[in-house]
Amino acid sequence: MIVVAGSASQKLSQTLSEKLGAPLANVEVRRFPDTECYVRIHDDLSGEDVVVVQTSFPDDKVIELFLLQEAVRTYDVKSLITVVPYFGYARQDKQFNAGEPVSAKTLTKHLQLDSDTFITVDIHEEKIMDWFDIPAVNVSGMPQIGEFLKGMGPEIIIAPDKGAIELARMAAEVVGCDSDYIEKTRIDGETVEMKAKNLDVSGKKVAIVDDIIATGGTIVKATEQLKSQGATEVYAACTHGLFTKNAITRLSGACDRVISTDTIENETSVVSVAEEIAKKIKK
Ligand code: R5P
Repeated sequence: MIVVAGSASQKLSQTLSEKLGAPLANVEVRRFPDTECYVRIHDDLSGEDVVVVQTSFPDDKVIELFLLQEAVRTYDVKSLITVVPYFGYARQDKQFNAGEPVSAKTLTKHLQLDSDTFITVDIHEEKIMDWFDIPAVNVSGMPQIGEFLKGMGPEIIIAPDKGAIELARMAAEVVGCDSDYIEKTRIDGETVEMKAKNLDVSGKKVAIVDDIIATGGTIVKATEQLKSQGATEVYAACTHGLFTKNAITRLSGACDRVISTDTIENETSVVSVAEEIAKKIKK
């Protein structure tokens, strides 16, 4: 087995290669003067099970991923496993208006063309996995996030909305604490109250977990409200830290700690999802 590391997933590929006991291939990725992508795999991969790892964000990494898959196929490989740690475009998972593509479907269609198996992590909408015609699995970063949070001692793990409650449950199970979700209640035209549905956060250390943090708006609002309801500390944890528009700065002003996984590599990526991916590959 050999791991082909895309430029968006260098650290995770290194960790995955260690977990699998599989070396990293010698991969060259560079840009032509017009910014188009050039890739070349210098090792002969013939006869190997090849794991290509590349997050599909931002857009230029998607093209690089297609080229890497194609480059792998220039060798007579035994199998090609595509690992997309963060599946970009998963939030456009339905047609909201006539004339729009279901972007998540577009991605599944093209990503599987050159692949035998597909693995991703905490995909925004589980139903996307059903759109693959090849074996496709979605693993979760929440058990590892739970392991990390354990050391910080949260007493409640909260999802920012009902849709993310399963993620909160998974992390809470590892931490060994309660989980809940935030319910939004409209007080008047201008005020929306965000409150834990069933639990009292007063005097408690709370961790909010979500699949994605993008602008950070959801978490900042939730943190402010939980603190006003007496939470002593609020941590924010997500699988995919997109952190657009100075989100880290805004979040750092509101939360006591911000953590994410290595599906998107940045300064908050203190948790690795490599173990969960490796378990699926070894199966
Ligand atoms: C939404 O359904 C997602 O799970 C996240 O809650 C959302 O993407 C977070 O966005 P933002 O950080 O911009 O509030």
